[in-house]
Amino acid sequence: MKTLDSCTLTIFGAGGNLSRRKLIPALFHLETAQRLPDHMVILGCDITPRERTDWLEFVSGILRELHGHDIDEEALQRFCGRLYYFAIPPDDDTAYSRLQKLLDDGPDLPPNIVYYMAVRPTDYPGIVDKLGNVGLLKEKNGWRRVVIEKPFGYDLQSAQTLQASLYRHLNEPQIFRIDHYLGKGTVQNVMVFRFANLLLEPLWNNHYIDHVQITHSETLGVDGRADYYEGSGALRDMIQSHLLQLMALVAMEPPLSMEAEHLRDEKVKVFKAIRPITQNAVHAHAFRGQYAGGSIDGKAVPGYLEEKNVAPDSTTETYAAMKLFIDNWRWAGVPFYLRTGKRLAQNSSAICIRFKNPPQDLLRHTRQGPPQPNWIMLGIQPDDCLKMEMQVKVPGLDLHTRTISLDATYRKEGEKDYDAYEGLLLDVIMGDHSLFLRIDEVEAAWHVVDPVLKVWSMEREFINTYPAGSWGPRGTYCLFDREDQFWRHSLDAGGSDTQAY
Ligand code: BG6
Repeated sequence: MKTLDSCTLTIFGAGGNLSRRKLIPALFHLETAQRLPDHMVILGCDITPRERTDWLEFVSGILRELHGHDIDEEALQRFCGRLYYFAIPPDDDTAYSRLQKLLDDGPDLPPNIVYYMAVRPTDYPGIVDKLGNVGLLKEKNGWRRVVIEKPFGYDLQSAQTLQASLYRHLNEPQIFRIDHYLGKGTVQNVMVFRFANLLLEPLWNNHYIDHVQITHSETLGVDGRADYYEGSGALRDMIQSHLLQLMALVAMEPPLSMEAEHLRDEKVKVFKAIRPITQNAVHAHAFRGQYAGGSIDGKAVPGYLEEKNVAPDSTTETYAAMKLFIDNWRWAGVPFYLRTGKRLAQNSSAICIRFKNPPQDLLRHTRQGPPQPNWIMLGIQPDDCLKMEMQVKVPGLDLHTRTISLDATYRKEGEKDYDAYEGLLLDVIMGDHSLFLRIDEVEAAWHVVDPVLKVWSMEREFINTYPAGSWGPRGTYCLFDREDQFWRHSLDAGGSDTQAY
């Protein structure tokens, strides 16, 4: 285990959603596992004035609610010892000079500093500018790193503008663009699965693979985040970032090594090889929808337009699907289907790879029904699993076949994985960029989705809807190249038959 530098982790937006739901719980879990550096201070910054004692109560309240009676009291006490709070009221011009004094001169605060932007994306450049102006980004007596949450920009142009504003004060190695999907153990397993098993490599190409499906579905709705989501929509929120990253891991060539630059070089090559979608091809390659009222787990839920802070005539998509082609030697002609949606039938993230049928259908006279292809499926959540579907003979006198699923779920009983944020926070402290996005990756991903965003932003009159609790709008099937291709909703054997809408 690497020794970690002592440091001060400064969280902007410390009282906000991301910090409460992800960062504080992740840091506390690292505390209980004794994985935080001995000398590490966590400095919460937010606009509300609070005393340190109030802050400690606030954080303890979050953690007690999460862990109930099982909370590790000793760890909680240690954790509270690390916590400080600093208020930055929006109209207080002197706040950053005071922060500079505190961080530079405060005896308790280690000089290596992480600044975590858990704020609205529009606030990133302003905060970085103010930190830069008071000298808090200069690496004088320790390192200074900035973590930028997604979305990095709103489209290619705004991503470039944001980048230019960061470069005024920061060098590339100081910037950690986070995509928490890359921190998920099961997502990293895509690389292990591909590169530690020689068996797959000969099959991993357009000779054998019919198509790839990458899905992230959620039963939750916009969940009080309409302020952000109205300006984002599903394509920006999930596909431009998380799902394109998954696609890159499935499709990339083996990197020279697992080092950050080698990994990121290969991902960028995939993005650059994605066939650009021209404006008049957008409808053949992308489909959007918005949830209407419906029912989830037997409970009636409102439609998107009835959610708080959503414009009554909003055409923001809560469902987006895309068909992409990677025009390179390995993947020419293989469609990659990506889809995501809120208020769908299930919570599930998975990569499903469908193989072609054998070149000669020798069993066509004895088998009942059409030939069933092989599938390899990587379940990311809620169950992390690895399954392979094959055809076998049904016992009996006839040569009938059926599908069986080889389940190579890798987690053993009692083995727990860390939350994505836990590993990523440690990576920032270690200065390891492997699981963070390089600017050319971000730009290339915007290149992929920008034409679709442009067309959708012009079509404000109409959006397809789907009932909450369903698998999305029916029209989405128009993306498929052939009639025997359809969304796979379940990873269970025979799930490929599920055409249910
Ligand atoms: C976030 C999106 O980046 O990822 C959310 O903004 C989405 O809308 C979430 O719900 C999904 O992440 P996870 O880890 O819950 O699959």
